[in-house]
Amino acid sequence: MDSFEWNKVFAAVIASVLLIMVVGIVSEIPFHQEQDKPAFTIEVAQEASAEAPVDTGPSFAELLAVADAGKGARQWNKCKACHTLQKDGAHKTGPNLYGIVGRTVAAIDEFRYSSALDAMGTAVWTYEMVDEWLANPQAMAKGSKMVLAVPKAGQRADLIAYLATFTDTPVPFPTPEVAEEVEEAAEEVADAATGN
Ligand code: HEC
Repeated sequence: MDSFEWNKVFAAVIASVLLIMVVGIVSEIPFHQEQDKPAFTIEVAQEASAEAPVDTGPSFAELLAVADAGKGARQWNKCKACHTLQKDGAHKTGPNLYGIVGRTVAAIDEFRYSSALDAMGTAVWTYEMVDEWLANPQAMAKGSKMVLAVPKAGQRADLIAYLATFTDTPVPFPTPEVAEEVEEAAEEVADAATGN
């Protein structure tokens, strides 16, 4: 090969190296852009959640007002290994729950409650208390023998609507408007106390 032909080979090699570099750079451009986009959205989402007031969703009274006792019957499957719901039903690992709303806490004499639940023994189960209980029994009565929780508010409302059908003395559901007014009044009192 003479030097002229060597030059052609070098030129070809350099040209292809350049081509590879250009292709590499060009192909990285859209990739980088795509990477930037999700990072940006995540940042925005975090900022929004830090600044916006926490959305607690509908109140318990609102959920109960639209609750579906039929769906609650399916939720009851989680409970029936330990509880019966029929009048004069047996006590199992947990006590019979007939007429639970309006009943005193830990009221069944034949059932051996934990001391945690016994200690609440003068309180009467309201709908709100049963909701709080099912959300986290241990938070309400630390050391309670019941450990199962129902974390979803909508599922609890359905279940409580179902429980409420097993009673001699039905207790009216809390009305969302009244519950809201009570909440607002409580907020006003709290604001007045803190001087806001
Ligand atoms: C693994 C067994 C178990 C399961 C499942 C269970 N419980 Fe219980 N439950 C108990 C026990 C035990 C107690 C008594 C707790 C204590 O003494 O600390 C109790 C107590 C209660 C009480 C208070 C009763 C009273 O007389 O004051 C309610 C209300 C209740 N359970 C509702 C439910 C519901 C509704 C479910 C289904 C989501 C459920 N439980 C699932 C075992 C269970």
